[in-house]
Amino acid sequence: DWIMGDYIAEAVEKIRAQVGDEEVILGLSGGVDSSVAAALIHRAIGDQLTCVFVDHGLLRLNEGDMVMDMFAGKLHAKVIRVDASDLFLGELAGVTDPEQKRKIIGRLFVDVFKAEAAKLKAGDGGHKGATYLAQGTIYPDVVESGGTKTKKATTIKSHHNVGGLPEQLGLKLLEPLRELFKDEVRALGVALGLPPEMVYRHPFPGPGLGVRILGEVKKTYADLLRRADAIFIEELRNTIDPATGKSWYDLTSQAFAVFLPVKSVGVMGDGRTYDYVVALRAVQTSDFMTADWAELPYSMLKRTSGRIINEVRGINRVTYDVSSKPPATIEWE
Ligand code: XMP
Repeated sequence: DWIMGDYIAEAVEKIRAQVGDEEVILGLSGGVDSSVAAALIHRAIGDQLTCVFVDHGLLRLNEGDMVMDMFAGKLHAKVIRVDASDLFLGELAGVTDPEQKRKIIGRLFVDVFKAEAAKLKAGDGGHKGATYLAQGTIYPDVVESGGTKTKKATTIKSHHNVGGLPEQLGLKLLEPLRELFKDEVRALGVALGLPPEMVYRHPFPGPGLGVRILGEVKKTYADLLRRADAIFIEELRNTIDPATGKSWYDLTSQAFAVFLPVKSVGVMGDGRTYDYVVALRAVQTSDFMTADWAELPYSMLKRTSGRIINEVRGINRVTYDVSSKPPATIEWE
């Protein structure tokens, strides 16, 4: 629509005026904010933008390829994909404590990103190097870090973000979404040509599957979880609620599978199985501070559990989490 068209034209001019002929680095996560920021900045300055996408090995099924297809394939943006899964899984080996896991993932993420950014900053023969770091900071993030919202006295979970990076890297900051609310960011993303499925995605935590595999993180667990989670999401997208005409994916705020490193006995054909358990979690919330578990249709849960147990060898039991927040949190770790 024309209002969004005007907004884009204005935002593009602002970015061009600020950046001039300098170069910009952006950390692409596949989430809504960094994706929309990347698409907008790319619209403004094209190849003066380089996106760095760190794959920590804890992403959802096909996530890395989807991000690359979208940004490198369709938008023709410069994207560097860093496959750091061995590094992350190596450092996480033997670690079971949730806070320690978060700290390790957060630290490694910053290390890997910094190393890539340093290379881009240094430039090479033909390049003078990057001088800007772009971030998908949106208005609610600005308000939160300004202390306008009351801060919780105790840290329930240390959230992994990349605060302080521009200073550490000696880069100037470019934050073109700073004045926008989430729904405006989504509308902007659609207007920039990002697919609605990407722009209206549920949030995904920075530490990824690292906090959805309880206790020690192992590649074999992550592989099982990815497949179970993909089946759940597919069923949510494909199950339409007749009353609203919306999919259960759109009727929930966040939904995912959790891997429980616990074995239970089952029976399959003539044989006994002794395999892992997956818990499904789906919540409805407006602010993620409190949340209700979603009353998903039994028929959908039945189909989902049947598919997971049949299609994912190694999982023989599926449970549904009926805990609200508080006292439970949305994630299990
Ligand atoms: P909890 O589990 O605290 O989650 O009820 C509230 C919301 O925050 C997300 N979450 C995170 N997001 N880094 C993130 O970027 C994190 O470390 C992190 N931990 C939780 C969670 O997915 C939910 O949307």
